[in-house]
Amino acid sequence: MHKSLSSSESKCCRVCVSLGIRSYSIIIGPNAMEEAVIADHIFGHRLMVVTNEIVERLYFETVVQNFKDFQVDKIVLPDGENIKTLEGLNVILSALLKGRHDRTTTLVALGGGVIGDVAGFAAAVYQRGINFLQVPTTLLAQVDSAVGGKTGVNHALGKNMIGASHQPSIVISDTMTLKTLPKREFAAGLSEVIKYGLIADKCFFDWIEDNLDGLLSHDSNLLTYAIRVSCQIKASIVSQDETEQGHRAILNFGHTFGHAIETFLQYRDWVHGEAISVGMLMAMRLSVLLGGISETDFERLKVMLKRCGLPTSPPRLMTVQDFNLNMMRDKKVMGGQLRLVILETFGLATVTAEYGASNLQKVLTINCVAQ
Ligand code: NAD
Ligand code: GLY
Repeated sequence: MHKSLSSSESKCCRVCVSLGIRSYSIIIGPNAMEEAVIADHIFGHRLMVVTNEIVERLYFETVVQNFKDFQVDKIVLPDGENIKTLEGLNVILSALLKGRHDRTTTLVALGGGVIGDVAGFAAAVYQRGINFLQVPTTLLAQVDSAVGGKTGVNHALGKNMIGASHQPSIVISDTMTLKTLPKREFAAGLSEVIKYGLIADKCFFDWIEDNLDGLLSHDSNLLTYAIRVSCQIKASIVSQDETEQGHRAILNFGHTFGHAIETFLQYRDWVHGEAISVGMLMAMRLSVLLGGISETDFERLKVMLKRCGLPTSPPRLMTVQDFNLNMMRDKKVMGGQLRLVILETFGLATVTAEYGASNLQKVLTINCVAQ
């Protein structure tokens, strides 16, 4: 049950991602950086902080205070999804080489999911892998992208198509950083929080519904709690299926539709969580057609997403054909067959190829205004 909160939520809490000798902690809460014993997670004496121009201005000086005993270099990338490319990766690798960094350097990914993904990928491939820390500063990164070790970049022909699995040695999620997050980015992060309720914990969904106003006004206790539960759900799934041989794919609920939107828009105009908002509604509609979800629950989700200020229908110019084309480039396509994540029931997701092609086309037709 998710009930009212005690004042202890205003302090930091810890969630463990259990992966044998590669297990690590996620520290969550206000001033989490001070709680984390960072030195325990750095093996050499050199650090490379990878961040972007916005986050650098806001948080670099504060973060560096915690690295006083180390030699710190930094790479400041431009803002935006468009640096999550092989070119962006090359900028990081070149800076590491020019600075003569060796395998004992620890890389620190300071920023949202874009920085976390591209910097994590650089850590995975630089000299066949170096240590890295995730210091996520968006809600989306704190509840999702910084946890679980998926790193990578986009290709013009598909989202997240090039990457590696590389776990951080710690994730430090300072909830105070969310205070400066633009409203739109905060809402985008909430879409992933809502996802956890849908795929794994109906009571958590009920709790979000009851506490949404508080979450939207950045209540610190509620936020820490929502991030903690989200991370617990993700950590549990990742611990069972780190390399996504099966079950982990449920974390991609709505993402096949969402990634198709992002690819169609060439990673411009919409942010990731907005595309996922629409994608989840489309996956929910498919689940209604398959009989696992009621019309009432579909409407509950729609109302919740609207309350967050998230979009509930695809870009106006996107056609059924655009979806079909871009969805077939999803990583869940196997042997030419697209698999999708659906809800068997509220709070229980599964990945399946047995959704019926006509049901999928019905979902696309209902949702696309353009033909
Ligand atoms: P983002 O990294 O682009 O950050 C969003 C915006 O907020 C940016 O403009 C950024 O500069 C700014 N920002 C970051 N922190 C801030 C702060 N504290 N205050 C003010 N502004 C701040 O976007 P995102 O939503 O964090 O991440 C999206 C990316 O994450 C996508 O590329 C997506 O594919 C990826 N992702 C990866 C995984 C994974 O498992 N690896 C999971 C989900 C999403
Ligand atoms: N965001 C999906 C995953 O980590 O598997």
